[in-house]
Amino acid sequence: MPANLPLPKPPESAPAGRVGGVSVLGTGSYLPARVMTNADLEKIVETSDEWITSRTGIKERRIAAEGEHTSDIGAAAARKALEQAGITAGEVDLILVATASPDMFFPATACLIQRLIGASGATCMDISAACSGFLYAIEMARHMIDGGAIRYALIIGTEKLSALVDWSDRNTCVLFGDGAGAAVLGRRPEGRAGRGILGTFMGSDGEYSQILGIPGGGTRCPTTRENFDQKLNTIKMLGKETFKQAVNAMTSASIEVLDRTGLTVDDIACIIPHQANVRIIDAIKDRLKVPSEKFFMNLDRTGNTGAAAVAIALDEAHREGRIRPGDKVLMVVFGSGLTWASMVVEW
Ligand code: ACO
Repeated sequence: MPANLPLPKPPESAPAGRVGGVSVLGTGSYLPARVMTNADLEKIVETSDEWITSRTGIKERRIAAEGEHTSDIGAAAARKALEQAGITAGEVDLILVATASPDMFFPATACLIQRLIGASGATCMDISAACSGFLYAIEMARHMIDGGAIRYALIIGTEKLSALVDWSDRNTCVLFGDGAGAAVLGRRPEGRAGRGILGTFMGSDGEYSQILGIPGGGTRCPTTRENFDQKLNTIKMLGKETFKQAVNAMTSASIEVLDRTGLTVDDIACIIPHQANVRIIDAIKDRLKVPSEKFFMNLDRTGNTGAAAVAIALDEAHREGRIRPGDKVLMVVFGSGLTWASMVVEW
């Protein structure tokens, strides 16, 4: 791990967000049926509901069923988003899937979801940006729609992190869960109150690539018997360092996107942060001086669902009426890489 490196700051050269036009036409989410509570985890590792709740805010998470894959979970969320948007699968031009737990290295999980939902006219690929991937993917698709290359994009954040967790490591296994969220993007329809995506900010810092990731299973550290026995194919994390970087990156990314859009936190109706840890969100809240009510949180029920987290939260906030026509929504994410991003959408 790099020592004494400066904390991540928004790079000067990052492009400014452009104004309007591309909107979220529909959202959807899906959580697997099986609930794993903190009490269930007490039977697997030496932990307690009290420890997990006080350190993370997580009470339970969902675990995919046997035979239920990342693509299945993503397809379920995608169908709901398409239904809400009133767009058929056949009309989708682009599918971008953000995931850190793809069904396989290749083909892309996006192609597998294409097949499951019957979006035969779409171009499909995965985005590898860990928990930041959903906003990265929206930003890619926005420019393709804005430039006239495509009409409708389906963006999906989907994870089956339960398959990548070391279930004997209490430092990590209590944190993660499975699920998916999706959004359909297209040009703002006639009569829609909000102007759509107002601005975006994205950043990365590979100097911190070693603090959170899965070291084994790729070409650098292939799946040999020895590597497998050392559980190098599971999630490894330096918790405290990750915590510190997450707070700094998400705070500065929030400030940056507000500057770019000429807004203040008072203009924002709802803030949807990456759902990793309530203490990370509390620290951001204190630094931004924003009341708790503005933050939407569901991590107590979902755990950290990686690239799906902000996507699921967006859909739940929308369906629960926390986001109304004309509201400005700030989403902010952070993940392995390091990667981070923020986006303001006028609904
Ligand atoms: N149950 C009980 N005790 C535990 C558990 C557990 N599940 N996990 C760790 N402990 C113990 C540790 O062993 C340690 O014991 P010791 O003092 O005897 O060595 C003690 O609790 C304190 O451990 P810390 O690591 O200091 O606990 P901390 O307060 O830092 O909390 C946590 C750990 C929750 C992981 C925190 O560091 C954190 O949230 N980090 C960020 C994690 C995160 O958000 N990751 C993902 C972000 S990016 C993305 O989503 C991909």
